[in-house]
Amino acid sequence: MKEKNSELIQKREAAQLGGGKARIDKQHAQGKLSARERILLLMDEGSFQEIGMLVEHRATSFGLEKTKSPGDGVITGFGTIHGRVVYAFSQDFTVLGGSLSETHAQKICKVLDLAMKNGAPVIGLNDSGGARIQEGVVSLAGYADIFYRNTRASGAIPQISVIMGPCAGGAVYSPALTDFVFMVEDTSYMFVTGPSVVKTVTHEEVSSEDLGGAKAHAEKSGVTHFTAGNDVECLRKVRDLITYMPQNAMELAPQFDSVLFAKEKLNRIQNIIPDNSNLPYDIREVIDCLIDDDTFREVQADFATNIVVGFARLDGRSLGVIANQPSSMAGVLDIDSSRKGARFVRFCDSFNIPLLVLEDVPGFLPGTDQEWRGIITHGAKLLYAFSEATVPRITVITRKAYGGAFDVMNSKNIGADLNYAWPTAEIAVMGAKGAAEIIFKAEIAAAEDKEGKWKEKEAEYAEMFANPYRAAERGFVDAVILPEETRSTLIAAFKSLEKKSETLPKKKHGNIPL
Ligand code: COA
Repeated sequence: MKEKNSELIQKREAAQLGGGKARIDKQHAQGKLSARERILLLMDEGSFQEIGMLVEHRATSFGLEKTKSPGDGVITGFGTIHGRVVYAFSQDFTVLGGSLSETHAQKICKVLDLAMKNGAPVIGLNDSGGARIQEGVVSLAGYADIFYRNTRASGAIPQISVIMGPCAGGAVYSPALTDFVFMVEDTSYMFVTGPSVVKTVTHEEVSSEDLGGAKAHAEKSGVTHFTAGNDVECLRKVRDLITYMPQNAMELAPQFDSVLFAKEKLNRIQNIIPDNSNLPYDIREVIDCLIDDDTFREVQADFATNIVVGFARLDGRSLGVIANQPSSMAGVLDIDSSRKGARFVRFCDSFNIPLLVLEDVPGFLPGTDQEWRGIITHGAKLLYAFSEATVPRITVITRKAYGGAFDVMNSKNIGADLNYAWPTAEIAVMGAKGAAEIIFKAEIAAAEDKEGKWKEKEAEYAEMFANPYRAAERGFVDAVILPEETRSTLIAAFKSLEKKSETLPKKKHGNIPL
């Protein structure tokens, strides 16, 4: 028995080493942790249970029979994060560059299937040279098996991808199908085709980092939702994010009993909106003054900054916040901000996370660039996402709610449950200046003092609509509230909506404008 047991122990030791000490040292020298160190850091201490440790590939071409390694370049299993079960895989770059073989893919599919059957989140730690070149089509089919499962799992269990090394070619599509992507700065990159192919085809010279590094995807493409300075910080952020989500679409996110809220914020919130309604302010200050202390986790913070989205807690409960950002492009809606908002709304709705919308929007961004790139279709995404959402939904109009954007930003008429406005709200078809120019065109033209007439008519329109009261008279807002009353109002309002039950008409699935 002893002999048999020691055989197992030896096999385990071999598997623990992955591609060997020299390769692990190389990984460390690059500032990266090993695949095993990562998965152990991700999980609660001592909770990780590995499965498939002894799996080996079956390929024989191009000398592969001599390069067998237990585990075949990916560590798979389950464990807990803050006591809740999660499934995970961690690709091991020290084994054949973490490349994806038939068996490597089967191991990933196994954890995806288990996560689905057991209704638990799945987290993929990616560090791979892509499809195992020697295996050809079986490796490509392996990717497709993963993509298929990612898609089927979408909206059923939370899926998180963490990019901690290369992720290129077809490999990028698994992270793209999952809910949230994290990237580590300087050591990770993602692209469909790398710098050498780019140079051949388009003659552009670009480094891997500039083409598909964390900064590029955080600021330019929006492919990544979060970035981190190193592996340890990144895994800590993943563990934290998971606390805002339920295990699956049938459950609610965990509720936290200890709630901190600094009372001075009730004073601070009264002075955020500038006297001049054309001046900017940072909507994140408003968010901070409403939610439980230090609970805001901004998603895609550096992409489409004219909309702010993220998770927060209000009285210990998870909340999705979607807010126009007056300090970036005056908070207008454009293609990127509509896409960003829509995707976040749909995640929250899939996973029973109530929505809080803070509205200060002057309208949609005008121009040929936006029109020709399809702002009509993309703007409709946000409208669709809100209209479709059945979770509790509340809007607070802090200032501008102009034009079609008023409708889009979770208006009552697209199914919001409760809408509030601050006394500084202006709910109109457009700003008073532009409105006066159009509807009093003839009068202004006929006047001797054109400028004076325009000003007079502008004031007339502003008097009528630059306030929340016309909307309140018609019930488009349910109450006008003071900034300092907003937190307590929201806590009571979301509590009143806790048991909200609404179902969509029976259908296969909707057809969101893509
Ligand atoms: N299939 C098989 N083996 C692979 C591989 C792949 N897709 N990607 C990397 N490897 C192997 C390498 O052959 C090397 O093996 P060795 O140590 O026995 O020589 C090992 O993994 C490490 O790769 P290396 O190229 O030395 O690492 P690097 O850090 O210098 O470069 C990459 C990393 C990802 C840029 C580079 O390996 C690469 O271009 N890989 C191919 C990417 C690709 O086109 N994949 C297919 C598209 S899906």
